[in-house]
Amino acid sequence: MNTCILKLDPQNIDAAAIERAGCILKAGGLVAFPTETVYGLGGDALNPAASEKIYAAKGRPSDNPLIVHIADMEHLYPIVREVPEKARLLASKWWPGPLTMIFNKTDLVPKETSGGLSTVAVRMPNHPIALALIRAEGGYIAAPSANTSGRPSPTRAEHVAQDLSGRIDMILDGGEVRIGLESTIVDFTEDPPVILRPGYINKSMLEEVLGTVRIDPGILNAEENKNVRPKAPGMRYRHYAPKADLSVVEGEREAVIEKINELTRQAVSEGKKVGVIAADETSSAYTAADVKDIGSRETDKTIARRLFSVLREFDEDGVDLIFSESFETPRMGQAIMNRLLKAAGHHIIKA
Ligand code: TXA
Ligand code: MG
Repeated sequence: MNTCILKLDPQNIDAAAIERAGCILKAGGLVAFPTETVYGLGGDALNPAASEKIYAAKGRPSDNPLIVHIADMEHLYPIVREVPEKARLLASKWWPGPLTMIFNKTDLVPKETSGGLSTVAVRMPNHPIALALIRAEGGYIAAPSANTSGRPSPTRAEHVAQDLSGRIDMILDGGEVRIGLESTIVDFTEDPPVILRPGYINKSMLEEVLGTVRIDPGILNAEENKNVRPKAPGMRYRHYAPKADLSVVEGEREAVIEKINELTRQAVSEGKKVGVIAADETSSAYTAADVKDIGSRETDKTIARRLFSVLREFDEDGVDLIFSESFETPRMGQAIMNRLLKAAGHHIIKA
């Protein structure tokens, strides 16, 4: 299959291109598109065959459900059994935006899309290309992140092309995404609502609207939760993993620098190629040949936006080992560390 890549200006969208992409989706084809979080791999959410194609293109287990993307609130009601008042409030504050909500589904959503579950994940993305595409398609686009299963999510069209060229019909290139980590997932089939995946919208931002919110214990890194299964099937898999062995080094700032430099010396003496992921504030303190500055701890949005891209860059550099600082920042730290620790297979070194 020849994958057509179209460059679009999000501020001045080519209507003919969107029309063409919409036709591909209506005919059961696959189109990757930008959202504000990461690039999505879209198919008609109401067409079981399209969902099956998505799983095949990504190499994704078919029991890992897809998020249904909508562009208008009226499209929510036909696919869900009920919309709790709290969910309505959250939608009015955060949709369109980096928020996915879980509801009990109606029969309109095929089991292929919901991974066999009786619930459905719904999101209204805040990106002009995504919204235009959903409307051109007719209202419902199923879209997981547009990466090969297990690899870091794509934040640029080039990442999508690396993984999926030849396997999908079209890629809409709208430039680099704004947020860089996938949406926050909140489950409204329980009360109080439960965070199934941390993201840009953190717990306290949710609590401003909802009052008490719980966090799925399966996604916390605490030792006592080691054997708790996350409720979102996708959070159970090893994910985002770079080809090199990645370890996160935790501790006081100076101790971390010393530890990483010591580990680097040792690895280099064994003939290994080492990469380091560090914040602006400390990146010049490392002796490794390949140090990637991921952004400032003061503006952790940059760290969030760069993370997946940096992991992919190390694949290209061909390093054997990666040591990363830990980024427990107040604003997006939980989301950043959730992805980083998954990428590291939870391998933590105490400095
Ligand atoms: O930001 C995002 O959410 C991006 C963009 C493209 O919108 N999409 C995305 O989709 O991250 P994906 O498929 O890579 O991740 C969806 C996650 C998976 O962990 C999946 O298991 C979970 O959502 N999920 C989907 N439906 C669910 C359901 N009914 N119950 C629990 N978890 C669900
Ligand atoms: Mg994904």
